[in-house]
Amino acid sequence: MTHAPLLILPPDVDGVARAAAVLRDGGLVSFPTETVYGLGADARKDRAVAGIFAAKGRPSFNPLIVHLPDMAAAEKYCVFNDDATRLADAFWPGALTLVLPLRPDAGISRLVTAGLDTLAVRVPDHPVAQRLLRAFGGPVAAPSANPSGRISPTTAAHVSAGLGNKINALVDGGPCSVGLESTIVSCVGRPALLRAGGIPTEALETCLGAPLALPDDPETPQSPGQLASHYAPLGTVRLNATEAQSGEVLLGFGPVSADLNLSPTGDLTEAAAKLFDYLHRLDLMGATRIAVSPIPDRGLGRAINDRLRRAAAPR
Ligand code: TXA
Ligand code: MG
Repeated sequence: MTHAPLLILPPDVDGVARAAAVLRDGGLVSFPTETVYGLGADARKDRAVAGIFAAKGRPSFNPLIVHLPDMAAAEKYCVFNDDATRLADAFWPGALTLVLPLRPDAGISRLVTAGLDTLAVRVPDHPVAQRLLRAFGGPVAAPSANPSGRISPTTAAHVSAGLGNKINALVDGGPCSVGLESTIVSCVGRPALLRAGGIPTEALETCLGAPLALPDDPETPQSPGQLASHYAPLGTVRLNATEAQSGEVLLGFGPVSADLNLSPTGDLTEAAAKLFDYLHRLDLMGATRIAVSPIPDRGLGRAINDRLRRAAAPR
């Protein structure tokens, strides 16, 4: 969607219906949750999700939390084990995010998971968030609605000051009650705390009847920061390639003849939207040596290059 002047919407049924329509059109909508304001997009649309990263100016592709109205909706996208079910029963709706195995046929954009096979899901407790999620009827990917590196927003005024000219709509639901992001727990294997937040660790441990593993605990899979670097294609990666050498598959950008082209017109948002999908396709093609066209190091190009440098790093 193009960026017409910011549509500021009231939190009533009509305002929320208009916000849901913007999401359906692939637009960006900021909405209140009990923790902080989120910057939402349809989690199934690559272009819309790429728009989140462009608006925030994130220099890397951190995976995003998907917001759903209830546990039944969340079960369509990921697999709950006993620990996850216990935590969800006790703390949803609320300030808890669970990282769970992603259902392969879930239809979630790979940009949401940064190519991982896990998904972070949350059922927010805020009445306006609930109303919006039910009106939209699909998964909403949403990081906090602040420019990268800035403070998380807890009022509509914070959002419009930081991102007002970069998003399509903002539902004004007043100040957030918790004011601190959700607690993130991975239930892939032994339950592990990935981020402290709105629900105290002690309450989670009481519910589970066992201590949570901590991010620096050797038994814990990975902390969120490390997780973003986990995915790399099976083949070796050569960057800034003007053409493919023999035996190489070219992942192109701009007007080059390539096996796969991230954006023939040189559009960085389009390239970001396709990046993870194309890295997976290169695996499916059995590419053992991958050459990648130069990508300009500005805007979303910085996040794309960050990802490609990790993919190219010796393993
Ligand atoms: O309270 C909140 O959680 C707010 C509201 C809007 O819901 N959202 C939020 O999103 O704080 P964000 O993008 O600022 O933080 C998401 C965190 C990141 O640290 C990211 O690494 C982690 O969630 N995350 C997302 N998917 C993950 C995954 N599959 N595995 C591990 N960590 C994940
Ligand atoms: Mg944030």
